[in-house]
Amino acid sequence: MAQIGKDIARAAEILEKGDLVAIPTETVYGLAANALDSIAVARIFEVKQRPYFDPLIIHTYSVEKASEYVTDFPPLLKKLAQQFLPGPLTLLLPKKQVIPDLVTAGLERVAIRIPDHPLTLELLSKLDFPLAAPSANPFGYISPTNADHVNKQLGDHIEYILDGGNCRVGLESTIIGMEKNIPTIYRLGGLAIDEIEKVIGKVSMEINRSSDPKAPGQLMSHYAPHKPVYTGNINELADLYSGKKLGILCFGKTKIHGSPVILKYLSENADLREAAAHLFSYLRELDESDAEVILAELLPDIGLGKAINDRLLRASAT
Ligand code: TXA
Ligand code: MG
Repeated sequence: MAQIGKDIARAAEILEKGDLVAIPTETVYGLAANALDSIAVARIFEVKQRPYFDPLIIHTYSVEKASEYVTDFPPLLKKLAQQFLPGPLTLLLPKKQVIPDLVTAGLERVAIRIPDHPLTLELLSKLDFPLAAPSANPFGYISPTNADHVNKQLGDHIEYILDGGNCRVGLESTIIGMEKNIPTIYRLGGLAIDEIEKVIGKVSMEINRSSDPKAPGQLMSHYAPHKPVYTGNINELADLYSGKKLGILCFGKTKIHGSPVILKYLSENADLREAAAHLFSYLRELDESDAEVILAELLPDIGLGKAINDRLLRASAT
């Protein structure tokens, strides 16, 4: 198992020698390595068992620093950066040569974000390189939102987990880039689209859910528990699967048909932010319970509800 602690100097030392450290962010925990060192980055892919065609996000501590790794910073994306970073937003920007091709899977753009977590911001400011960090889970499984989640699944492969408590947002960052001069969303996430549109106007969407996506993160089956997951109207599902031991994930407090072995409410007051923060840890609890199947209620398709539904639909895909 890895050690869990708050020792930033130790984390920095491990990263400087080319090894991996799990880091907290406001969205989910990341599995970090020196982004400028291809060999260190290759270890991330090994440990996660992630296909090499799936590019990584690099993390840094300021917009000025981020600018050093790119050849262009379109004004609309700069505006978003100034408004929302540090925060749950990732920008796709044309990369400089110094960013290894392994990080971007050979693509011309690099994904950059500034995580809003005090420990990780301090760590980043002490390093003279950015950190490449995917979510710290085995490829395709539910993302980790606390240090224990990371330790359970990847603890045997890493030395140290920087403990920043529970992730405040609980959903991965929203990804945006320019597509023929139009700001385009590639992944729904912790920053809602309406917030973005308030600042730069209408954006376009390229959120695929297919088995052969243009961007690898758009793989339909992702964020998936080991148990089968079904989504939809919760009591219709409860009736349909009444012969099974049920694990149920609801949005707000609802009366449920039958007697599930485990029942979780994402937010008793039906608050989307609270629901997002609970989503992945509750999915894990359901997956680790005696339930045979997991039934999940879809949320209102507004604000963060869109991103939560996106994760639930991918969790239920096979
Ligand atoms: O909130 C987050 O973004 C978390 C924390 C740890 O920062 N990170 C995260 O990384 O979710 P990961 O690797 O699990 O997901 C990154 C997504 C992938 O879907 C990948 O395909 C996409 O970002 N991505 C990365 N670089 C890209 C690029 N150059 N072009 C298009 N998509 C890219
Ligand atoms: Mg991930």
